[in-house]
Amino acid sequence: MHYKKLLLACLALSFWGVHAQKRVPEVEALLNKMTLEEKIGQLNLLTPGGGVATGEVVSKDVESKIKNGQVGGLFGVTGPDKVRIAQEIAVKESRLGIPLLIGSDVIHGYKTTYPIPLGLSASWDMDLVQKAAQLAAKEATADGINWNFSPMVDIARDPRWGRISEGAGEDPYLGSKIAEAMVKGYQGDDLAASHTMLACVKHFALYGASEAGRDYHTVDMSKIKMFNQYLPPYEAAIKAGAASVMSSFNDVDGVPASGNKWLLTDLLRDRWGFDGFVVSDYTSVNEMIAHGLGDLQAVSALALRAGLDMDMVGEGFLTTLKKSLDEGKVTEADITNACRRVLEAKYISGLFEDPYRYLDSKRPKKDILTEENRTLSRKLATHSFVLLKNHNNILPLKKSGKIALVGPLADSRENMLGTWAPTGDFNLAVTILEGFNNVASGATIQYAKGANISDDATFAKNVNTLGERITIDARSSEAMLKEAVDLAKTSDVVVAVVGEATEMSGESSSRTDISIPESQKKLIRALVATGKPVALVLMSGRPLTIPEEFDLPVSILQVWHPGVEAGNAIADVVFGDYNPSGKLTATWPVYVGQIPVYHSAKVTGRPAPESGEFQKFRSNYLDAPNAPLLPFGYGLSYTTFEYSNLRLDKKEIGQGASISATITVKNTGDYDGEEVVQLYLRDVVRSITPPKRQLKGFQKIMLKKGESKEVTITLSPDDLKFFNAQLEFVSEPGEFEIFVGTNSDADLTESFILK
Ligand code: BGC
Repeated sequence: MHYKKLLLACLALSFWGVHAQKRVPEVEALLNKMTLEEKIGQLNLLTPGGGVATGEVVSKDVESKIKNGQVGGLFGVTGPDKVRIAQEIAVKESRLGIPLLIGSDVIHGYKTTYPIPLGLSASWDMDLVQKAAQLAAKEATADGINWNFSPMVDIARDPRWGRISEGAGEDPYLGSKIAEAMVKGYQGDDLAASHTMLACVKHFALYGASEAGRDYHTVDMSKIKMFNQYLPPYEAAIKAGAASVMSSFNDVDGVPASGNKWLLTDLLRDRWGFDGFVVSDYTSVNEMIAHGLGDLQAVSALALRAGLDMDMVGEGFLTTLKKSLDEGKVTEADITNACRRVLEAKYISGLFEDPYRYLDSKRPKKDILTEENRTLSRKLATHSFVLLKNHNNILPLKKSGKIALVGPLADSRENMLGTWAPTGDFNLAVTILEGFNNVASGATIQYAKGANISDDATFAKNVNTLGERITIDARSSEAMLKEAVDLAKTSDVVVAVVGEATEMSGESSSRTDISIPESQKKLIRALVATGKPVALVLMSGRPLTIPEEFDLPVSILQVWHPGVEAGNAIADVVFGDYNPSGKLTATWPVYVGQIPVYHSAKVTGRPAPESGEFQKFRSNYLDAPNAPLLPFGYGLSYTTFEYSNLRLDKKEIGQGASISATITVKNTGDYDGEEVVQLYLRDVVRSITPPKRQLKGFQKIMLKKGESKEVTITLSPDDLKFFNAQLEFVSEPGEFEIFVGTNSDADLTESFILK
């Protein structure tokens, strides 16, 4: 309370462009007692192992370092009893008794794993996203964690990049809404409450734009593109109050993010007013040696001067900062400021008041993996699925008759959680076979694997680095295929669960070929050849290229990696207990060669013909259309929706005014259903070439069959603004076009003038 008053007073004195210099008396008093070594110690983040070590280094002598005041935080330690041991060493055995921050990667649920973030974003349901984060915080804090390395808000327009699975896709508007919902969910209103944790916005910045979709790779981008397309979600997370930021691994225009002063200080603190602390990514400070910026002392000094406060695992700060101070390469104020920020985070977490606040050993049983939590996970999963195609309305299936459930992912517990779920346990996941039996007990469900996820042993070995996800069966492919086809022939309908294993996407899991592996393509073709109705349940951590499968007479339900309730949730949708409502948040290309392909691309001076036919001396390909297979915002329902009567409340507005678009949406099909009504904007003429169209509003609505609703979406003055050549956020007078509909190809349009 006291702290909040103080902060408000400081904020009142601050203005845009200068971040609030807050001073918490307790923190200042502590700083006055600290030696230089103790201050540097607070900048050191270690992991004793136990989580996923994503680099080659794992910390050593952690216990003695804590005692010596050389550790500010730990990650990879969970459970109130274990965390208590570490916290007691810090509090009782180090000279000043400063408690530790306890971090973790709670990316999509803690023990109750939810769908991967890309899937969750496809729900377009901000209340659900916030609830998911809130519940993740409740579970994680019950297990002793007070700091979460999430949300990951990197815009990703290259599905070759494996980490597209961890974010919200390609769009800065939707990405910003999701960033805000997640920060609010994790942090709540009071960071000192025992069920909230510090959020950490990552990976700052532009990590999703790594060249060629290869992980940890270089980014070189114009400021115009950064500000308009890539930075908004980070800024939205900061505005929502995120307490910390993680710098990214990548180079940003010649200086890696972890040593980039423009990024970490000029933009983040001075322009956006961020007053929390910045942590590096896993050894990303040390990695600047390999980037070519000098030795460990040089890169550590560079990082500190740039505005990086805490060094994850690398220990460059711990081992070199004193020497750099002696040699005048950093100042004492640099060290003290960084230490102050780390201490302030501990202060707002309530750790000074009670270092054992998050360490109630009764909580895990009460708060983790409860029925209520699993129910939410099941709901989140059903809302994340996207119906890509429904040939002959094969879906939903009846809960009777003979169903052939085939495919290498149909009975595969180890592939249900998806990437970056180290706090989850795949042994607790519901397989699809189990889910079908739970939900459709009246049907006869028979299973055959049919194919390996991949027959390529080298590929399987690479994917299996963190554990066996692709098992190459001892039986021959022919024998597996025959078994599945025989089963299909004697069944009424076939459901084939195909796609990517967990860890075919995620960190360090980039692919140059993002199609379904050939072993499974063969299975799909053979099943279709039986003439039986076939529904594909497609699992993946990224958009895939599926032109061949899309052309087959099949239904396709995209389910990402759905989390611990996978099988139940898939069965809920396949059997019609929930009508799918998810919409793609990243465009699906036809071919890898089209990448990057996204809805808000610019229009060239020689646009391709509308017809899609090739024309010489135009911006098109000789061998493929420009259009993707599936546009951003796309997703079907078991029912149908009709849009009509788009109108604006004004034809002309002045600067600073809002404008509202209203449209009638009718459920014209046979099921009740939800629809995401989307609004796109085109600024027709402006000083910086505008994107073809940009998402600027959406609303998820529920319509009973036959029901109509008027949906109004209001554009605020900021929605008409963009960053101009001087990087000022402005709107320029002129014509604007609005498109409203069911995806980014929406064709109902109206226009207005901004004076
Ligand atoms: C990842 C981060 C993660 C960190 C700690 C890194 O490899 O890039 O997203 O938070 O490891 O586990």
